[in-house]
Amino acid sequence: MNQITDDYPFVFVDPKSVELFELACKVARTDIPVLVRGPSGTGKEVLARVLHESSARADQPFVALNCAAIPEHLVEDTLFGHEKGAFTGAHKYSMGFFEQASGGTLFLDEIGEMPLELQAKLLRVLQEKQIYRVGATTPVSVNVRIIAATNVDLKYNIQNRLFREDLYFRLSGFNLAIGRLADRPADIEPLARIFVQKHSGEQRSSLSQSALQKLLTHSWPGNVRELENVIARAMVLHENYTIEASDIAFDDLG
Ligand SMILES: Nc1ncnc2c1ncn2[C@@H]1O[C@H](COP(=O)(O)OP(=O)(O)OP(=O)(O)O)[C@@H](O)[C@H]1O
Ligand SMILES: [Mg+2]
Repeated sequence: MNQITDDYPFVFVDPKSVELFELACKVARTDIPVLVRGPSGTGKEVLARVLHESSARADQPFVALNCAAIPEHLVEDTLFGHEKGAFTGAHKYSMGFFEQASGGTLFLDEIGEMPLELQAKLLRVLQEKQIYRVGATTPVSVNVRIIAATNVDLKYNIQNRLFREDLYFRLSGFNLAIGRLADRPADIEPLARIFVQKHSGEQRSSLSQSALQKLLTHSWPGNVRELENVIARAMVLHENYTIEASDIAFDDLG
């Protein structure tokens, strides 16, 4: 286990996770752009934070941007900010995500959902390492380390002209693939214990052996996020500060 955050430790216990963590720490020493790939809920953002916090940029900002969630008319403003007077209501200048992340790390989450038009703009910034705030005539230099994450198959998107190949090569200086929770079973118990701790009140609850067995034999289609949901639900149901197998209920996705 690695004490990375102030709140709850991140878990890298299974040999597969240890290997990934060690690789991430090596990659963190450089400024090379990293593409984190993995199914939903596996911990891609967690890994991005590990990369940032193990890097020389750790004291600088970590800024996360969900590329799928920017309204189209706000794209430029969100990424690049604006100058005072750039448009009606722009009473003072504002910094976009690139400037906010200056000196630190910009985490581009769900990069596979980024619209093509925005991909072109992003590519230009990555090439030129400078941005123009909306309404600006002079550029601002940006020094950010880029980490992108996706749960979609970018190669498939490239073949189908949904994702720019040139941008893919800019982003994937190093690829880190994070696997399904079911494929790294030794992480399940420590993760479950952390989530019990996180969702406990003053008195810490505990997991019975039978509850643990039930967790260890599940297939976890929703990965770590599903595990946290299952524990949070068990915390509502359990009595006498002990989680029994009967308190563990899985989502029925079928
Ligand atoms: N190794 C880990 N140690 C501790 N907590 C973890 C770990 N991996 C994931 N989690 C927790 O599981 C949840 C999901 O992780 P995260 O948001 O990083 O996944 P994701 O891959 O980005 O998911 P999505 O594809 O849905 O965005 C978070 O609450 C996170 O704190
Ligand atoms: Mg995520």
